[in-house]
Amino acid sequence: MRNSRYGRIVDNDCFTLEFAPPDGHWGITDRPRRSTQKGYPTKATMQNTAIATVDLTAIRHNLEVIRARCSHSRVMVMVKANAYGHGLVQVAQGLSAADAFGVARLQEALILRDRGIRQRVLLLATLLNPAELALCSEKNIDVVAHDHVSLESILAQARLTPLRVWLKLDTGMHRAGFSDEAFVSADRRLLEHPGILERVHMTHFSRADDAASRHQQSARFFRCRSRTTPTPASLANSGALIASPETHAEWVRPGLMVYGVTPTAAPRVPELRPAMTLHSFIISIRELDTGEPVGYDGCWTTQRPSRIGTIGIGYGDGYPRHARNGTPLWIDGRLVPLVGRVSMDSLTVDLTDCESAAVGDRVELWGPHLPAGTVAQHADTIPYELFTSIQNRVVRVYV
Ligand SMILES: Cc1ncc(COP(=O)(O)O)c(C=O)c1O
Repeated sequence: MRNSRYGRIVDNDCFTLEFAPPDGHWGITDRPRRSTQKGYPTKATMQNTAIATVDLTAIRHNLEVIRARCSHSRVMVMVKANAYGHGLVQVAQGLSAADAFGVARLQEALILRDRGIRQRVLLLATLLNPAELALCSEKNIDVVAHDHVSLESILAQARLTPLRVWLKLDTGMHRAGFSDEAFVSADRRLLEHPGILERVHMTHFSRADDAASRHQQSARFFRCRSRTTPTPASLANSGALIASPETHAEWVRPGLMVYGVTPTAAPRVPELRPAMTLHSFIISIRELDTGEPVGYDGCWTTQRPSRIGTIGIGYGDGYPRHARNGTPLWIDGRLVPLVGRVSMDSLTVDLTDCESAAVGDRVELWGPHLPAGTVAQHADTIPYELFTSIQNRVVRVYV
């Protein structure tokens, strides 16, 4: 990212983009821009109609909000899945205040190291062969012992090169982690092994939003830990971090909160600021009579003379195809409803009550005016999936 006299320049794999305020259009250009008529780029520019703006200041602010809630814990920011779609490298590089980063694939961990990230990096439960474990040791990447296979490989590798190990207890998620007895004996073996530099005990909540379930899982975790030699512990994802201070322990592992979203059933944290704004533009508007079907399969029909806007973003960009009629979008200072089925490259909205809307107007799909959680509810999904579904052709711009 660099600045030019026209505005900020963002390079992604495909394009160099220029932001030319105040009209807000992005152009692929290295030539001078002339002024644009509302909605129409000059010949020198091409407009990309699907843009995700990521506010790194908001992400840093959210980390401070998190720290204020668990001042005695170290914070591992989850940046797996391309930092929940926000950009792995940009987010990690922007978060010098994070104590560690959590990833789910070795490639993600290696990219972080390659791009100069020096904080601790934890590679969550996965399958690692000896060469990959050696790489983890060389690159100072923490690994998880989550079953007998991973434990034995880790112990074998640690005879050659040292490793930091997070030992996982399965307290009810039944996805990864040892049972109680196996956890206690695995912990003893790690403790006695000279090649294990550090042990951290961890578990993961299957229903972080449910107090009873959280309590049951954390009680089991602490009961099992009481049978082992003391070492740091980590339980809390965003939901537990917000609702259960007793789960904070030595390390918290928030993801969603860092990106400014409160998990659906958790008490709202109003200080959090959404980091991502997904926006597009109105690319066309048409007037239709009553009774006209709109979009594939005609699954929505005008009930009155209607003004239908076409927006330049679709499921090929990652906007959920299952978003229902009525899913809100923010246009021209108000919410307008999605109508008809979402297409690959575009979707349609009812602009009948939004007379001022014109071709070229900016449309917010989610962001400060429209929580991703609200959109997710209309599409029977969760904000995690919305964020991580954003495709490469959507240009990510960092501000
Ligand atoms: C093991 C683990 N820890 C922490 C997190 C972060 O969860 P959240 O984004 O809800 O804070 C995840 C997310 O899936 C996870 O798998």
